[in-house]
Formats: sequence, C-alpha cells, structure tokens
Amino acid sequence: MTPIVVKIPSDPDSKEPLVWIAVIKNECVGHVRLSISSDKIKYHNAWVHPNHRRKGIYTLLWETRDKFVKQNFIGKISYAWCKSGSLPLYIKKGYTQGETCTYVEKVIEP
Ligand SMILES: CC(C)(COP(=O)(O)OP(=O)(O)OC[C@H]1O[C@@H](n2cnc3c(N)ncnc32)[C@H](O)[C@@H]1OP(=O)(O)O)[C@@H](O)C(=O)NCCC(=O)NCCS
Repeated sequence: MTPIVVKIPSDPDSKEPLVWIAVIKNECVGHVRLSISSDKIKYHNAWVHPNHRRKGIYTLLWETRDKFVKQNFIGKISYAWCKSGSLPLYIKKGYTQGETCTYVEKVIEP
C-alpha cells in the first residue's frame, strides 16, 4: 500500500529541523528531516518501520523532501551522512561519495 507523505507544519522562524512523515492507515511508518543553515542543507534522520522496509517508502520520503528543497534552495549545497542502507539512494541521485567515517568506542579507564 502506498503511504501518504505529510510535511509537519512548523513556525517559519523556528530553527528546528523540518520533518516529513509517511502514513499508512493512520500509522506513522517512516520519517525524514531537513536542517537549513546559511550555506548548506542537511538531509538527516531517515527511518522506516522494519515491517515496511524495501517497499520504496524511504525513496518516496526522500523525493518529497527533495522536491521542497528544489522549490526553495536552488544553488545551495545539500549533504548527508549516510549509513549502508541510505547511501545507495544518494549515489543514485547523483551525490558524490566523500570520506567514510567509522564509529568507535571504549570504556573509560583510569
Ligand atoms: C535506510 C532506510 C531508511 C531505508 O528505508 P526503505 O524504505 O527500506 O528504503 P527503500 O525501499 O526506499 O530503498 C531505496 C534503496 O535504498 C537501498 N537500501 C535500502 N535498504 C537497504 C539496506 N538495508 N541495505 C542496502 N541497501 C539498502 C536500496 O538500493 C534500495 O533500492 P532497492 O530496494 O530498489 O534495491 C531503512 O532501512 C531504515 O530505517 N534503516 C534504519 C535507520 C537508518 O539506517 N537510517 C539511515 C540513517 S543515515
């Protein structure tokens, strides 16, 4: 079933990220966010419910957000930090792959 994609209304003066959600039968099954700074547009916080993955919902959210960006921010740079699941769509959309960043951790010892 194709979800409905809704942009969450927000105060135009707010610095909080813009959010789009995907809804199927009154249930939120995914979301993406957008943060705007003076020179760059950040695409972030992609998530789709595990029961609904690989059905194109992220692609639909991504393209809806991208349409908004194209209507409002022509000429700015858009970017994202990708995991393995989100990277393929950015490559498909023509983004250039930068350096890879790997998470590390360790218990703090005396
Ligand atoms: C990443 C995520 C948002 C993708 O959502 P989705 O609705 O399943 O994605 P789509 O169905 O639109 O897939 C689009 C393309 O992305 C790629 N893709 C999606 N999930 C993938 C995965 N687990 N591994 C590798 N590629 C993946 C594929 O190229 C896919 O196209 P295809 O199905 O035609 O092969 C979802 O798996 C998720 O919420 N993961 C956990 C959170 C996360 O990692 N978010 C990314 C933050 S950077």
